[in-house]
Amino acid sequence: MLPESVRIVEVGARDGLQNLPTPASSETRVELVNLLSQSGLQHIETGSFVSSDYVPQMAGSDQVFKTIKRQSDVVYTALTPNLRGMEDALKAGADEAAVFASASEGFSQKNINCSIAESLKRFEPVMELAKQNSMPVRGYVSCIISCPYDGATTPRQVAEVTKALYQMGCYEVSLGDTVGTGTPLRVKRVLEACCREVSIRHLAAHYHNTYGQALANIYASLEEGLAVVDSAVAGLGGCPYAPGASGNVATEDVLYLMEGLNITTGVQMNKLLEAANFICHQLGIRSHSNTGLALNK
Ligand code: HMG
Ligand code: MG
Repeated sequence: MLPESVRIVEVGARDGLQNLPTPASSETRVELVNLLSQSGLQHIETGSFVSSDYVPQMAGSDQVFKTIKRQSDVVYTALTPNLRGMEDALKAGADEAAVFASASEGFSQKNINCSIAESLKRFEPVMELAKQNSMPVRGYVSCIISCPYDGATTPRQVAEVTKALYQMGCYEVSLGDTVGTGTPLRVKRVLEACCREVSIRHLAAHYHNTYGQALANIYASLEEGLAVVDSAVAGLGGCPYAPGASGNVATEDVLYLMEGLNITTGVQMNKLLEAANFICHQLGIRSHSNTGLALNK
């Protein structure tokens, strides 16, 4: 049975903008978040507190957090790789943090310059500081299907990192098909392995759409009982450390699917399109959302 409602976690302002050849201005980032905040989304990843040597596009996230017009019913999340990131996120007034690990060693090294085990160790003081400040923390596991450096990932590898993040206090673990190579059967195998360790209620889908499989993978995940989906407005996105990977599944496409399945999300399509049209215009790009393109005709 499919869930009655799904929470959409909008990651366009972070995952969507972190990979641009020319960084979006602070004003553009703020306006995007403000428009998204009007759409009924309850969860908006707003920026990241990472090294600007690694991801210059996310420099100035503190300014973005301080300038956005906050809606009281929206949770504004910050990506935090280490203690410094968490301290900065707290100072900037983020509502929630997200730590990120990988299921594969190659991506872990390239993305955060340490092994999987070292990253989990590094998160311990981050979780402690979050706890002291009553800050909820989400976890990500990248490369749940395959890794650009190591090749195929096994479901067991994903389940182990998922379990570790959940046990250290992440209230939810988002499973990242970073490269977008997943297909429904493989995604189901990963979810089955993770569900032996952590209830499906604490898992989220974060699927990139490189091979056009993200919606099919989301549907397969809903069939497994999953009810939290990450997506990016206009299908923006990609990780600088996952070469060749394309954007996240588009939020408009996810919303169209949910509406067709009578699954409640609380998100309004017309408002989402306003945000999508704004950011595409600012970046001078065509939307990657089929729904967005069809509705804009
Ligand atoms: P490192 O070089 O090992 O860090 O990088 P370090 O501790 O040795 O410090 C080096 C320098 O960075 C120092 O500065 C630190 O102060 C500074 P210096 O003394 O040389 O002037 N530094 C920082 N600056 C700002 N904020 C910080 C911070 N920490 C240290 N938090 C580090 C390790 C984790 C910092 C680095 O690798 C990093 O920032 N990586 C982030 C990469 C990233 O953001 N990738 C994209 C997001 S993940 C993703 O997209 C996947 C996801 O969407 C899910 C999916 O799709 O799979 C989430
Ligand atoms: Mg991602």
